[in-house]
Amino acid sequence: MKFIYAGKGTGRYWPKRQPENGLINWEKMTAKQVYDFTRALTKPYPGAFTFVNGKKLYIWKIRILEQKSSDLPGRIVRVKKNGVIISTCGKQVLLSDCQFKGLSRRESLKLLKERTGEYFKQKKTKLTYTKLKDFKIIFQKQGAYHVSPRGFKGWFLRDNYRAIAEECNPNDVVLDIGCGEGCLGEYLEVKKLIGVDYSQVALDLCQQLYPGVYDDLLLGDLRRLEALSLPKESFSLIICSLSLMYLIGSDLTKCLKQTYRLLKPKGYFVFTYPTVGPLRKGNEEAAELQPHVLQEEIKKAGFTIEKIKPIVPLISEETVKNSFFKGKAKKAFKQYLRTKKRMTLESSYHFLGKARK
Ligand SMILES: C[S@@+](CC[C@H](N)C(=O)[O-])C[C@H]1O[C@@H](n2cnc3c(N)ncnc32)[C@H](O)[C@@H]1O
Repeated sequence: MKFIYAGKGTGRYWPKRQPENGLINWEKMTAKQVYDFTRALTKPYPGAFTFVNGKKLYIWKIRILEQKSSDLPGRIVRVKKNGVIISTCGKQVLLSDCQFKGLSRRESLKLLKERTGEYFKQKKTKLTYTKLKDFKIIFQKQGAYHVSPRGFKGWFLRDNYRAIAEECNPNDVVLDIGCGEGCLGEYLEVKKLIGVDYSQVALDLCQQLYPGVYDDLLLGDLRRLEALSLPKESFSLIICSLSLMYLIGSDLTKCLKQTYRLLKPKGYFVFTYPTVGPLRKGNEEAAELQPHVLQEEIKKAGFTIEKIKPIVPLISEETVKNSFFKGKAKKAFKQYLRTKKRMTLESSYHFLGKARK
């Protein structure tokens, strides 16, 4: 064997393990991977970990079960005498030994059992508006954001708008919150349509692109809908198409409460929202919540959920790229339609929700 001197300072080193390397990625790991990962890091090593409601939980022992997971991965599915059952991307696992910082292993397992139904989180992320997309700047810099007669944006937005239109009634008096440049308006056949957005540029574009489609356009912030001074119970339908994910924490709660207040009794709130789960991790520029978490928020505002359905299939990046080129676009569109036939909530990019007051 011939050795070659790598030279001073030019050799390569494996990076040192860092504490964050012990984080379990529930959305990507199969039961076997979670098992191997946990076993490799268990005592006397520092331990694989996850987060429960913002608290770090070290996992010392798990066992793979025969049962396949029917829940989204990372859910605390059920309590057993000797532990808790967790769903993964594949089979379920039994977690029998774990520890929250500062608690004993026994106390930790007891606490975890009380959190059945909740999800382990990837990490503690603190979203701020500085991280989210700022549409005031986007509209100002690039003009229309959604309008594209061909291509991927066209397909998925068209499906999104059509799905919403199916929920409308010709007698509906509608408020479209976060209406943007108003592409949805064209799809709706309703008695009255009012749009709200916090970008004046978007509202101006709406008037230019779809003159007369909206009866009124109001400059307003979804975080302070009350500032619009609209009388309560004014609308039979409130729509929010792909905009709710730009609100964080208490702002989302406030917006939902105002939506509830503005709806007539038995009125509907119809929204579309990106799906995050095992197949799609989500976008750092939007506060995307898992479908069940968003549903809880909506219920807390007083609504009853009537429908949650997938509307846009997840497709490969290649399909997206090809969607802009003639010829290839046709092929890509066919692939999109095929994927759509097999779509479930997990394999959808966006879902539609319908909630009743
Ligand atoms: C992804 S676009 C969706 C636009 C439109 N609903 C559609 O489906 O074509 C998000 C829209 O939400 C608006 N938006 C985001 N945050 C808002 C806020 N706090 N108040 C009012 N509008 C907001 C943006 O200006 C943008 O028009």
